[in-house]
Amino acid sequence: LLASLPGSDWSLVLMCVESLCGVLLPVAPSMEIRNPHSTGMDQQLILAIIGSVSVTCFTIIVALLALFCIKKNLFSRKRMFTYQSGSGEETILQFSSGTLTLTRRPRPQTEPFSYPILEWADIKFEDVIGEGNFGQVIKAIIKKDGVRMNAAVKMLKEFASENDHRDFAGELEVLCKLGHHQNIINLLGACENRGYLYIAIEYAPYGNLLDFLRKSRVLETDPVFAKEHGTASTLTSQQLLQFASDVAKGMQYLSEKQFIHRDLAARNILVGENLEAKIADFGLSRGEEVYVKKTMGRLPVRWMAIESLNYSVYTTKSDVWSFGVLLWEIVSLGGTPYCGMTCAELYEKLPQGYRMEKPRNCDDEVYDLMRQCWRDRPYERPPFTQISLHLIRMLEARKAYVNMALFENFTYAGIDATAEEA
Ligand code: ADE
Repeated sequence: LLASLPGSDWSLVLMCVESLCGVLLPVAPSMEIRNPHSTGMDQQLILAIIGSVSVTCFTIIVALLALFCIKKNLFSRKRMFTYQSGSGEETILQFSSGTLTLTRRPRPQTEPFSYPILEWADIKFEDVIGEGNFGQVIKAIIKKDGVRMNAAVKMLKEFASENDHRDFAGELEVLCKLGHHQNIINLLGACENRGYLYIAIEYAPYGNLLDFLRKSRVLETDPVFAKEHGTASTLTSQQLLQFASDVAKGMQYLSEKQFIHRDLAARNILVGENLEAKIADFGLSRGEEVYVKKTMGRLPVRWMAIESLNYSVYTTKSDVWSFGVLLWEIVSLGGTPYCGMTCAELYEKLPQGYRMEKPRNCDDEVYDLMRQCWRDRPYERPPFTQISLHLIRMLEARKAYVNMALFENFTYAGIDATAEEA
């Protein structure tokens, strides 16, 4: 084909090749471009030039393609996080860059999941707003999709255990899989830095519901105000019922997604803008219809259903039991459930039919809802859909279901911080 080109076309091809690859081709300045038909030597020289140009261009293209593929691969791996959770024996936490493998016994591999990534440079840490034995929550300003917003960033401390790492990664997985709902604390993004995982969630300006309820005990904080206004709380019956309704809506969403929370309590509810209650702390949540806990750990005994205490069985119906206890916490303005009783007494008395009494300020209808949640047989407890509807109806009735008026000999429900730590 090349040999059949007329002489002028040959000069043109060579001129192009020369101008394209002038730097790459060591063509001697004295070398003249002659008619390719003139000698066999010339033809060979031209073929050699074209060959070397083609090889050079091909090599450059292959190198560029390889570079592109490597970059693309690195970029997408950054968004993947492998985590193994649940009832198996091996725990693997694996970042795209930097791997933390905690092996116990072999078990099948689970699917990695992707999370919305946050760049380290886009997180500006402010104050510590929560602290546990092995973790911290820090208020931060983050930039997400170019927008600055408040966030609470959760991180583990250096000495966190294998279980803490697993629960923490599990929380990220649950948040990713749950999707968005108004009555849960939603995930904003996660960031991996120096082998540590940081989870950014929505910031709730009023903190956790338990402290919020306790702070509203105005007879303790400002007795003059309380007597002047004849009220035991800065919160109204309507606001208290609204908290319960918000949590029920969030739990309805969770149960529809077949997620079990396993630690539903006022301390794990956060109060957001417009006093909206949002379910948080998904560290123990499991996306399983029935979860049988196999390992020992701290147990929220006072919030646990009978079957969870006796057989370590957790279902949405055991979450319903915990919701009943949470409803009691709301009505009692943050009282300690079964205050004055030990955990051992609970193990003994709950199966015998013992239940918490009706708080004096509580309407029969609200107490009846609590008692339905505490039915012995899990399947006789109402589903969250029904609980949510019931609370919405009560809110619409605008009756004082929780009486906050200061009556004679009014006393708040007892608080025993040591008893709450299971
Ligand atoms: N404490 C723990 N998590 C929080 C959050 N998301 N917002 C405010 N305070 C918190």
